[in-house]
Amino acid sequence: MIEAAKQALALDDPQGWLPIGQAMLADGVARRRSPWRVMTLASLSADGWPEARSVTLRHFDAQAWELGFNLDRRSPKWAQMAAHDQICLHGYDAAGRMQLRLWGHVRLHGDDALGDAAWTASQPMSRACYAVADAPGEELSSPPLAPAKPDARDAPARAHFGAARVALNRLDMLWLRVEGHVRVGAYLENGAMQARWLSV
Ligand SMILES: Cc1cc2nc3c(=O)[nH]c(=O)nc-3n(C[C@H](O)[C@H](O)[C@H](O)COP(=O)(O)O)c2cc1C
Repeated sequence: MIEAAKQALALDDPQGWLPIGQAMLADGVARRRSPWRVMTLASLSADGWPEARSVTLRHFDAQAWELGFNLDRRSPKWAQMAAHDQICLHGYDAAGRMQLRLWGHVRLHGDDALGDAAWTASQPMSRACYAVADAPGEELSSPPLAPAKPDARDAPARAHFGAARVALNRLDMLWLRVEGHVRVGAYLENGAMQARWLSV
């Protein structure tokens, strides 16, 4: 469906790309095998180093251009985003030859209603990761233990779990189209994304 929409895309209106970007992100949330399921999240460390890692898309509200993922509150990225809320996300669909870059401000949700809802919506197997006693990235003297049993609705796991919501304010789509590469950039202006052609 996304491929058909890309092929049918009128190349006279960059704004027509936005629903395709939205469909790609919705697909990432809906389908485990979507090329947009896992994106690279870039944040800034306290000493100014860029940090990048994979995150799994869990939420996308097309109308609000808001997306979400879950994370461990003990992880370095939680502290990084708490200190500096400007982040970038990157994804690439090799089969569809499409790169997507997104920017926005992130909000972190721990012990609040949104955090509770994200916890309730998550699978037992995912919850088990948050029951691990050592914080992500902590040095170990031996290889990590097998993950906790996938029944981790206990308080410590919930206390480690957090949800992130990103209010997107910019996107950049690059399609390596066989007939000629095309690129669109969009910025949030007066509450709406405004797309423009960009030089490749
Ligand atoms: C395919 C894949 C999906 C991942 N999804 C998530 C995720 O949704 N949330 C998360 O916190 N870490 C996720 N990770 C692990 C992170 O990439 C990272 O290794 C870990 O969170 C530590 O990151 P940090 O040290 O930058 O905080 C995923 C890793 C892979 C390989």
